[in-house]
Amino acid sequence: MPDIVLISGSPSATSRTAAILDYARRKLGGHLLDATVINVREFPATELVLAQHDSPVFAEARKQVAQAAGIVVGTPIYKAAYAGTLKTFLDILPQTALRGKTVLPIASGGSPAHLLAIDYALKPVLSALGATDLLQGVYATDDQVKVAGVDPLWLHDDLRSRLDAAIDHLATQTKARLVR
Ligand SMILES: Cc1cc2nc3c(=O)[nH]c(=O)nc-3n(C[C@H](O)[C@H](O)[C@H](O)COP(=O)(O)O)c2cc1C
Repeated sequence: MPDIVLISGSPSATSRTAAILDYARRKLGGHLLDATVINVREFPATELVLAQHDSPVFAEARKQVAQAAGIVVGTPIYKAAYAGTLKTFLDILPQTALRGKTVLPIASGGSPAHLLAIDYALKPVLSALGATDLLQGVYATDDQVKVAGVDPLWLHDDLRSRLDAAIDHLATQTKARLVR
């Protein structure tokens, strides 16, 4: 089972959020942590929308989340909040799914206008799922991320340095949990 699970909540096939999370996954590998991405858009829509939490399609993902010591939650900003796609997946998790884990929120928005959506919209949901070790979020704007096919991913230097710092912090906290 992975040490860290990254949940990518964009419905887009060419998602900036997914590309950022893949960057984070590779960086975490450099910290010798086993990290895997759950891409919510790959689950069947009916099971998600109807919140069929006991469907076998979610069994592996639920187990991975349960056993991970660190979680990254990534979402595009839709209408000044997190994407509904992400919420459908969070809704099929148990009520205390994030208890005892270090959680890093990441959001991608069209402009800086909704920078605080991580704090006023996403973090309360993560807290409701039991997260207490919630790291400072990373917000990316569209002009800071370029996705050209699957590769290369171009990140603005400012975003890259904020991401690297957040990933280092997550790695340190997660390793501390793994040796407890
Ligand atoms: C339906 C929809 C609503 C959006 N609403 C906002 C918004 O309220 N604020 C914002 O900054 N960007 C908004 N955007 C822009 C996206 O957040 C932005 O392009 C983001 O990087 C997309 O991430 P993704 O490529 O991972 O899907 C919206 C985009 C869509 C498609």
